[in-house]
Amino acid sequence: MAKLMQSLLACGLLIASTAFAADSAQIERGKYLATAGDCVACHTQAGKAPFSGGVAISSPLGTIYSTNITPSANAGIGGYTLEQFSRAVRGGVRADGSHLYPAMPYTAYAKLSDEDTAALYAYFMQGVAASDTQAPPTRLPFPFNIRASMAVWNALFVETQPYVADQRRSVEWNRGAYLAQGLAHCSTCHTPRNFLMAEKHELYLQGGSLGTWYAPAITPGTNGWDQQALMDYLRTGHAKNGATAAGPMLEAIDKSFAKMDPADIKAMAVYLSDLPGAKPATAAAAAAVVPPVSGSDIVELAGKASAGEQLYRNNCASCHQNNGDGVRGLPALRNHTVLRQPNADNVSMAILAGVWPEAGQGMPGFAHELSDKQIADVTNYVMTTFGASKAGTDEHRVAALRQGGEAPLLLWLARAGMLMLVMLALGLLLLWRRRNSKA
Ligand code: HEC
Ligand code: HEC
Ligand code: HEC
Repeated sequence: MAKLMQSLLACGLLIASTAFAADSAQIERGKYLATAGDCVACHTQAGKAPFSGGVAISSPLGTIYSTNITPSANAGIGGYTLEQFSRAVRGGVRADGSHLYPAMPYTAYAKLSDEDTAALYAYFMQGVAASDTQAPPTRLPFPFNIRASMAVWNALFVETQPYVADQRRSVEWNRGAYLAQGLAHCSTCHTPRNFLMAEKHELYLQGGSLGTWYAPAITPGTNGWDQQALMDYLRTGHAKNGATAAGPMLEAIDKSFAKMDPADIKAMAVYLSDLPGAKPATAAAAAAVVPPVSGSDIVELAGKASAGEQLYRNNCASCHQNNGDGVRGLPALRNHTVLRQPNADNVSMAILAGVWPEAGQGMPGFAHELSDKQIADVTNYVMTTFGASKAGTDEHRVAALRQGGEAPLLLWLARAGMLMLVMLALGLLLLWRRRNSKA
């Protein structure tokens, strides 16, 4: 009898410990997925408890605060069931039924599999410490404060199905597509948006403005992006085509991509380098960028120094060199990919905000030292001299970048009281679409 009890007990212990092992493996997996999704970037404030929210995300419509996603019952998502968590992360709807703004990239996370969603849930419930810090409420101006309007937007623009594997492609390609379209949410920045701020799917990854920074086209054939260059860039922020990373991309690399499994990064590069190339419209814009300058072209400018050149020599040449070649690990500007973009915004943004990698050399910002006119002058000097680019800027654009970007058409419409009409029209369009798809 005692023996039986003993073996029953041992058996029970065994079951209990395997159950725990499975759980902790799932939590570990969820932690990795949270890194791949870069939840930290938006939900953790420097110096505050991890995932306690309150990060101010400036959108063209106003400031949106991220919420506390720790398992705190009163300030966070401690009360969420798996279904409620899944609906928030993949569908953009909170437990109380209110809609999230797409500043939370649920539009991309919608691709997550059920299994990965469950792993993320396990991590946020059991692997993250509860914090009772309340995140500040988001108050957008009317009519954007009506969260229900997002229901119409979602119905029109958001695909809510998890990723479906393409059987004609390799396992690696599908893994890459799953990650790039989903957790890594590349398209939320790199795909241009329409006037209602939804991604233009037909221009997938062909370059979009975040209002300030410009997320360039990354389809094959643009600026020398191939599989190896993409892999190196995502892992280190540097690539053989001369690219370096700044702004939101540098943050994504430092906090997320550099910490991902190299096999997953390779899978994304395999998928991305197999995408169709740039469409003619973008190709034309790329063709407008003149071929690289040679060293001798640069020397000729000496002696007839423009205002931009003077500013460059005084503020930039100590690191990037007079001839733009860079020195001792400081990047060359000559032929840098940032000078081959259809606009000069990223050069002006780098000058305004600086470049702050977690490791290695950084660049100070010049927002306080230089005026809008001066930043425009030095931007134009760099664009034309080291990149032979036809894209330039002026002080008005720099002033707008300094303010966080120009207000989109949507905001002007809303200010004019037009938004309700637009939403009504969209609602009708939706009804019509539903009818047609049923017919
Ligand atoms: C680009 C910024 C961004 C990223 C990345 C991001 N979030 Fe969010 N998230 C937000 C914002 C902003 C909100 C609040 C939006 C609102 O108030 O409408 C939010 C809300 C949420 C909510 C709803 C919480 C509630 O109060 O109901 C959950 C859950 C959530 N995020 C989970 C995640 C997870 C998990 C990840 C990573 C896989 C993630 N988020 C990544 C910005 C982000
Ligand atoms: C939060 C917005 C954001 C996300 C998410 C994001 N990017 Fe970027 N990306 C940018 C910005 C902004 C730049 C420009 C950086 C610069 O000027 O240094 C950039 C630059 C790049 C470049 C260099 C382009 C060039 O010609 O110099 C590549 C390649 C790239 N991103 C790939 C990706 C991939 C792949 C993903 C997803 C796995 C991704 N990005 C996700 C914003 C983003
Ligand atoms: C203290 C050294 C230093 C100074 C001064 C400096 N830079 Fe930089 N710059 C850097 C470093 C470091 C990087 C990022 C390198 C990296 O990520 O590897 C960088 C990156 C850049 C980039 C790429 C930004 C992008 O979008 O990826 C541009 C453009 C640039 N610098 C222009 C300038 C201009 C113009 C000035 C003068 C107004 C200037 N820099 C002054 C060190 C400097």
